[in-house]
Amino acid sequence: MKQQQAQKNIESQPYDCRVFANATDAEMEAARLIKSFVTSSTKPVLGLATGRTMLPVYQWLRQWHALGELSFAQCVSFNLDEYCGLDADDPSSFASYMRTNFFDHIDMPSGHWHLPDAAATSGTPHTYDDLIHTNGGIGLQLLGIGRNGHIGFNEPGAEQNTRTHEVALTASTRAANAADFPEGTAVPTHAITMGISTILEAGNIVLLATGQGKAEALHQAFNGLVSAACPASYLQLHTNVTVICDEAAAQFLKVHS
Ligand code: GLP
Repeated sequence: MKQQQAQKNIESQPYDCRVFANATDAEMEAARLIKSFVTSSTKPVLGLATGRTMLPVYQWLRQWHALGELSFAQCVSFNLDEYCGLDADDPSSFASYMRTNFFDHIDMPSGHWHLPDAAATSGTPHTYDDLIHTNGGIGLQLLGIGRNGHIGFNEPGAEQNTRTHEVALTASTRAANAADFPEGTAVPTHAITMGISTILEAGNIVLLATGQGKAEALHQAFNGLVSAACPASYLQLHTNVTVICDEAAAQFLKVHS
């Protein structure tokens, strides 16, 4: 009870909210912020996300790279999460998603990009956070948001003080992600995800949300209480969050001017 009471008294931080008329403009803004971070850092350490929302973002970044406007040669990246029980070359794995949509098209040296070790036996202390710290910490973390308010695979009920760990996926998340798996293939029941503490240690966080399906989650995340019921609400505790969304996703969001 004490812990819950403490959450209610937490002063939420101001955040930069950028609402765009359509998803395309929002996606381009997110890509532009990543480009700006990469070109202005001597050793850019990126936190990366997957999902349908991010596909156009990676397309913009690939395009700017192909035009010679953006190099990732000095970059290191850490993905938020990975499903358990999939082979690394499984087309439905996040590793495959990232190679297909991004890594295979840019000049980030192999060995510079990392995903959580989904093959690690459950209970094995995940050294992912150590690797992030060894590389100087994440400078810019790209985040999406699940319809139930999850970030990474931190599902409702996720505690704030968590590191990279194994989680059980909710039925709603497995249903939402089923489209990424071949017909009749079961979506994994577990995943490895950066924990909330891991995410909140990033220097800057850019959350991209598009479409009306994310409107309620975005409203709960930034207008509701800081609560485990909506893990994205923990982002209220971070001092450098930029929310980028289209009008459909922002329709319930009360933006404090
Ligand atoms: C997955 C990922 C999240 C992502 C979410 C939303 O669960 N683990 O990182 O934000 O789905 O995905 P989409 O962009 O497809 O709605």
